[in-house]
Amino acid sequence: MFIKNGWYVAAWGNEIGRELTQRWIIGEPLVLYRTEAGKVVALEDRCPHRRASLSKGQLIGDTVQCGYHGITFDCSGSCVRIPGQDKVPPAMAARSYPIVEKWKWIWVWMGDPAAADESLLPDFHYNDAPGWVATGGCLPVKANYQLLTDNLLDLTHETYVHGKTIGNSAIVETPISYRVEGNEVHVERIIRNALPPPLFQRAHPFEGNIDRWQIIRFHMPAHISIDARGLPTGTTDIAGGLRWFSINSITPVDERNSLYYWTITRCFALEDKGLTQMISDQILKTFLEDVDILEAQQVMIETDPRGLPEVSVRADSGSVSARRIVARLAEETNRAVVEQATSEVAQ
Ligand code: FES
Ligand SMILES: [Fe+2]
Repeated sequence: MFIKNGWYVAAWGNEIGRELTQRWIIGEPLVLYRTEAGKVVALEDRCPHRRASLSKGQLIGDTVQCGYHGITFDCSGSCVRIPGQDKVPPAMAARSYPIVEKWKWIWVWMGDPAAADESLLPDFHYNDAPGWVATGGCLPVKANYQLLTDNLLDLTHETYVHGKTIGNSAIVETPISYRVEGNEVHVERIIRNALPPPLFQRAHPFEGNIDRWQIIRFHMPAHISIDARGLPTGTTDIAGGLRWFSINSITPVDERNSLYYWTITRCFALEDKGLTQMISDQILKTFLEDVDILEAQQVMIETDPRGLPEVSVRADSGSVSARRIVARLAEETNRAVVEQATSEVAQ
């Protein structure tokens, strides 16, 4: 189940240059490249002639020449050349996708281009805001994208999965509150007077207990930011503690594969490159612990012969709400996309 009318991260900005790069997103193949002027283009990676993969062709100036019979398309997907003939059949065009490059990532709109609306991007400006330093990466995960959003919306797992870095028993002992605002879900956990978890202690040595905030925001289709703060117990001045955002965007490749784009962006010790590397290494290690669990979970879901419904608990409130939003939007927006396509065929 995928929302078509939504933004997905297609790549880190620095991954796309003057070569043809293939990406699969919600089961659709895309070819991405940069024009000579530096603008990113995304076309369907399927030639309208005989469906060869355009990414196996050649980038000539700002056009893509299919590697099979040489038919050539410009950045809007219009055919500009058919070897051996002048007349271009009207249907000889590659689909093009709206693109926005922002906050270090390249975002692609997978639905109706007329509905592409930049204001529907999640607010991830901390990825490159002045006064913040970000580190991050992208992990391939052999699991459905919603297993990842479930994971990020229920951080009780940190106690059991991430005990060496960001987890300790204080998390599971502190209940969450949550609310739904439009198509967003907000989950909050405020932990008082608890031991700092190991990675907090390494990143910002504390002398005693801390108060810890986890403020999670889910934005459709699969974008989650976590405002994480740790301050000496009873204090409120952020300068005396640790604050970072864990920014996560899950791109479904297909129903059972995802790309997990992530950053940690912090507002303290900005010049400390060793600290940036340590945080990056430890967070990667932490997320690989998630990947291990989620990939095994995917196999168990797929091989369950009984197909019994899952049994939810209170800590699932945020992820259950997010799944409801995705199900409703997928149904509504996909119906609109199908109606639009049907009316185009009828005309
Ligand atoms: S398949 Fe692309 S030109 Fe023939
Ligand atoms: Fe995790």
